[in-house]
Amino acid sequence: MALREQWRSRWGFVLAAAGSAVGLGNLWGFAYRASEGGGAAFLLLYILIVLVVCLPVLVSEMVLGRSTGSSPLLAPVNAAGPRWSPMGWLFVIAPLGIGSYYAVLMGWTLDTLIHSIFFGLPSNLSEAETFFGSISSGSSVLLGQLISLLLTAIVVSAGVRGGIERLSRLGVPILFGLLLILALWAATLSGTWEGYRTFLLKLDASQFFNPSTIRNAFTQAFFSLSLGIGIMVAYSSYLDKKNQLPKEAVSVASIDTAVGLLAGMITFPIVMSFGLKEVISGSTVGTLFISLPTGLGTLGLTGRVVAILFFALAYIAAITSSISLLEVPVSSIMDRLGWGRSKAVFVSTGLLFVLGIPSALNLDVLGKMDSIFGGVLLILGGFLLSIFLGWVVPNRFDEDLAGCNSNHRVRRYLKFMLRWVSPPVIAFGLIVSVVDLFQN
Ligand code: PFF
Repeated sequence: MALREQWRSRWGFVLAAAGSAVGLGNLWGFAYRASEGGGAAFLLLYILIVLVVCLPVLVSEMVLGRSTGSSPLLAPVNAAGPRWSPMGWLFVIAPLGIGSYYAVLMGWTLDTLIHSIFFGLPSNLSEAETFFGSISSGSSVLLGQLISLLLTAIVVSAGVRGGIERLSRLGVPILFGLLLILALWAATLSGTWEGYRTFLLKLDASQFFNPSTIRNAFTQAFFSLSLGIGIMVAYSSYLDKKNQLPKEAVSVASIDTAVGLLAGMITFPIVMSFGLKEVISGSTVGTLFISLPTGLGTLGLTGRVVAILFFALAYIAAITSSISLLEVPVSSIMDRLGWGRSKAVFVSTGLLFVLGIPSALNLDVLGKMDSIFGGVLLILGGFLLSIFLGWVVPNRFDEDLAGCNSNHRVRRYLKFMLRWVSPPVIAFGLIVSVVDLFQN
């Protein structure tokens, strides 16, 4: 058997994992979920969930990948026997589901970038409707989806080091720099404080008990960290023993949360300064594809330059995420069927395209796919992972982390959280999310 590829360096892995985490979910999901009424309560819940629940699960997902050296499809079976193969299938099906509609959103992002460069942006809400219609319907959507999948496929077929690591090393720092610049620019707008206050700082304690706020916080935490569905299993299977996984997990979660906040600090001032508050609440995609282009469209040349930078960075962020979604089926096919990378990429990309067509043609389908694959399944996967590494194969967790010399107190803390805190808290989040999903 050919030797498994390895990351070139510690930072290569961290940037690739952060690249997967940072994506449209940070730029679009964070702002819209924060704007759904949760305000500071959403933000606090989100941060708490990341710290208390997601970090131990993130480490356990990484341990599963590294200790088995297997793809997400086979890792649970290789760790605990064939009874666990449904978990492996969940790890393949969920990324395929997300990858299918994610490419559609990438197509819209590309189309918005092209509009910002060549045709200009809407400058009032009625123009915005037409604009949104033009990027989200018609054959251009399928074209955008196809181009995005092809770009993703090119990177993934170049391999772990030559494709995924190389793009992430370049893309993630550029995107972080651009975000910082844009957040500083947004801080000079007239509605800045009003934007921060309304969406991020205003605390309404009753929101802690609102099922939709709870679901939003759980979904955002898991989606944004690409957690619970095998992405980190795939990426960590290319690691050697040197990486201290708890440290890497903290780096990934910090970069991801910082990007979500920075994106909010760009979006909310624009929304407030240009009176677009109504557009963003109640619309999943309104923030990124209606409010932002319209706000920037009213600002003349400056707005256009900002829009070009913002949508270019959104597209980079999206590609570093979509490559991770494609890597899961690709590595699983290579592992299970012994195919070469190019053939596995070709077949998986074709499958993603076909699966994405209903989302490309119908907004409601896209929304449903996002609620199920991008929400409930990730939380379910997180629950299974915490049971699996906390209870089913706990020695694997200890041995792997001992092998990379991570501090034994950190290890004990993580193990405790994984066994006793994550399962009940995630189960609670899952139940609230499912009930809320059916009610709304
Ligand atoms: N985390 C990515 C984002 O925030 O856009 C999207 C994503 C990638 C979600 C991979 C889930 C996943 F497994």
